[in-house]
Amino acid sequence: MSELAAAPSTSVERTEGDPYRQLLEQLHTRADENGSTGSANRMIDIRRQLTEFQLHYKFGMDEVLTKINVLREEFEHTRDYSPIEHVNYRLKSMERILDKVQRYGCEPTLEGIRHAIRDIAGIRITCSFVSDAYWVAEMLCSQPDIRVVEIKDYIRSPKPNGYQSLHVILQVPVFLSNRTEFVYVEVQIRTVAMDFWASLEHKIYYTYEGEVPSDILDELRDAADQAAALDKQMAEIRDKVTALRKQAPSAGEGATGPTPADRPDPAQWFKDDDVPAWNWEDLVRQPES
Ligand code: GTP
Ligand code: MG
Repeated sequence: MSELAAAPSTSVERTEGDPYRQLLEQLHTRADENGSTGSANRMIDIRRQLTEFQLHYKFGMDEVLTKINVLREEFEHTRDYSPIEHVNYRLKSMERILDKVQRYGCEPTLEGIRHAIRDIAGIRITCSFVSDAYWVAEMLCSQPDIRVVEIKDYIRSPKPNGYQSLHVILQVPVFLSNRTEFVYVEVQIRTVAMDFWASLEHKIYYTYEGEVPSDILDELRDAADQAAALDKQMAEIRDKVTALRKQAPSAGEGATGPTPADRPDPAQWFKDDDVPAWNWEDLVRQPES
């Protein structure tokens, strides 16, 4: 048994199936294999392994953030309008990763986590209109170096609690010094109204530690309907204004932005024959519930 595994238990009781201990054992074995002898060297090696693991997700997230910023700046520069309002991002902490390992019962090794947990790198894009959310997803997913793993369309099929958002799980290549690694990144795309609802619901859920009273759940479902109605109404106003603007002699794109009908065909962007034909409908998998 390794030194770490034999160490006296801390205040938290560790059991046989404890993912913390199992992951530590793996890291410890690797440190031994790397020739790191002595407690201090082993600890340095273990920290290096964990930092490297997390760094690859940071690299993947940075790649996707660059793509999003390119789109955003290009739009702002050429069109006076961007379908992207805000972008937030975060890396999941090791503590939260291991919580999830425990909840999902996945293999508590670096490989197991890399395979099973797909939201270690997370990006949230907020848009003004529902059509913009789909448009941004299309622009990202049609980029030839991105692998679209799964699309969960909670806009078309909201969760029973009212949650709406478009979730895109993708893999992006990270070019390391000696290899290329495909890293999972979860991109959540939603409107400002959906985001407002989700952040309030999240706070309420944590306030009640998951046991939210039924009257509040009903109100939240009602608020989600109202948020969806607001999104619809805003799009209708935008379409009306666009139609009026098109009748004017000096038609141009103003603050309301282009409507879905103005959007270019994504297939036009990549002329290269090697790029496989990309079909949104094929990629969308309906959520189970
Ligand atoms: P995890 O929830 O991360 O375990 O993954 P999953 O496979 O269940 O995926 P899902 O798409 O349902 O949720 C992924 C993420 O979307 C969550 O971590 C939240 O950020 C967000 N999300 C999903 N459902 C809700 C919800 O009901 N309310 C809020 N506020 N956020 C949600
Ligand atoms: Mg979930």
